[in-house]
Amino acid sequence: MERTKVIDLLRREDYGADVNVKGWVRTKRGSKAVNFVALNDGSTIKNVQIVVDVDKFDEAVIKNITTGACLSVDGVMVKSQGAEQSVEIQAKSIEILGLCGEDYPLQKKGHSMEFLREHANIRMRTNTFGAVFRIRHNMAMAIHTFFHEHGFFYWNSPLITASDCEGAGQMFQVTTLDIKNAPKTKEGDVDYSQDFFGAQTSLTVSGQLEGELAATALGAIYTFGPTFRAENSNTPRHLAEFWMIEPEVAFLDLKGLMDLEEEFIKYCVKWALDHCKDDLEFLNKMIDKSLIERLEGVLKEDFVRLPYTEGIKILEAAIAKGKKFEFPVSWGCDLASEHERYLVEEHFKKPVIMIDYPKEIKSFYMKINEDNKTVQGTDVLFPSIGEIIGGSVREESYEKLTNRMKELDMKLDGYEWYLETRKFGSCPHAGFGLGFERLILFVTGMTNIRDVIPFPRTPKNAAF
Ligand code: 4AD
Ligand code: MG
Repeated sequence: MERTKVIDLLRREDYGADVNVKGWVRTKRGSKAVNFVALNDGSTIKNVQIVVDVDKFDEAVIKNITTGACLSVDGVMVKSQGAEQSVEIQAKSIEILGLCGEDYPLQKKGHSMEFLREHANIRMRTNTFGAVFRIRHNMAMAIHTFFHEHGFFYWNSPLITASDCEGAGQMFQVTTLDIKNAPKTKEGDVDYSQDFFGAQTSLTVSGQLEGELAATALGAIYTFGPTFRAENSNTPRHLAEFWMIEPEVAFLDLKGLMDLEEEFIKYCVKWALDHCKDDLEFLNKMIDKSLIERLEGVLKEDFVRLPYTEGIKILEAAIAKGKKFEFPVSWGCDLASEHERYLVEEHFKKPVIMIDYPKEIKSFYMKINEDNKTVQGTDVLFPSIGEIIGGSVREESYEKLTNRMKELDMKLDGYEWYLETRKFGSCPHAGFGLGFERLILFVTGMTNIRDVIPFPRTPKNAAF
């Protein structure tokens, strides 16, 4: 018999029909005479209830219906007596596709997130992680749909690169040289001309620089791919391997950039509310009681657009009134997550797009304002997350850009291919990067970024 997915079955009303479902046992309860098996196949957070008249089956089959076992069930669809579901299956035959022993780690309900992280190979079988990963899929669909509808082209930047986008010292090197026995130059340095690519290469920290080239050809593009950072940040918001979405748009100015950032995030949040109702309701009940309210709140609010200098004044005023922060605040400092969260969660109580940062704390490519002190960078700050988007208008003047690079002691050679955009028909343009997992954190109410990516890569951890 053809298999019906649980999500489709639960919508049917043709009681009396013969059906087949396949899935994994979540729970088994009942009496000596009748067992109720909750079967889940991942298509939805909901289980289908299988009613098993014990004396109609071999003892061995009944014994092997254990938590985690994989079953194929033929039976009749009947209207359920229970309040929890409308449909259940009266089992006619049960095939045990995969036994599951007592050492299955998800025997009981209510494991800690830490425990589940250690069992990341099977944690997707829990309600929480099933919900998270269905939502993660939906957010990817929302992102592609948003950009497609807005005339952006999905475009792929390379993962292996010989240049550094965001600043030195945070990249994973890619090499086929024997590290114990690397060839040396006359000066005694590693001779990368003998390496696979004939140059020192790393995994990308951002696809932006290449994306900028594409924007000056295709007009509006976005990338959506893995990104790697070797920074030793062991926080609930940092991964060494994460996914980033980086749109880049020709002829976009600061106002247009902020509008795009705001419209884009709201579109994703609305998509979740429209497409992930069951999963969100579950997470709202089990993980964060204010989740749905917070998501709906974001849609209603206009994001605050706040120059950095104003932000510093607000923080200083708060300190004067007795607010305690761990890190000091003064003009020129890079804001810590506690400062960002104060602005968003306590002061404005809505998302903030902070702009016009001191150039010293931002990347070389950001457009310098007339004051020659600040740059047209935008960080979108979100409740409970902090920075969710980092973006900017790009410096399009060859002269200003190369001057800034020299000021920062950057070597221009290696960047010629990038700088040529500023020589061959340079255009005003802007773009941003959204951290995919930070979006998923916000939309799911999960609190640790390790719990919204299937297999997290963090310092000292690349298990699975
Ligand atoms: O602010 P970032 O470093 O900006 C860029 O990489 C720019 N090149 C983007 C652009 O303008 N095209 O990173 C962008 C976003 C951050 O706001 C954050 O959401 C996420 O990427 N992010 C991380 N997410 C998880 N783990 C990390 N280690 C992250 N670092 C950045
Ligand atoms: Mg940033």
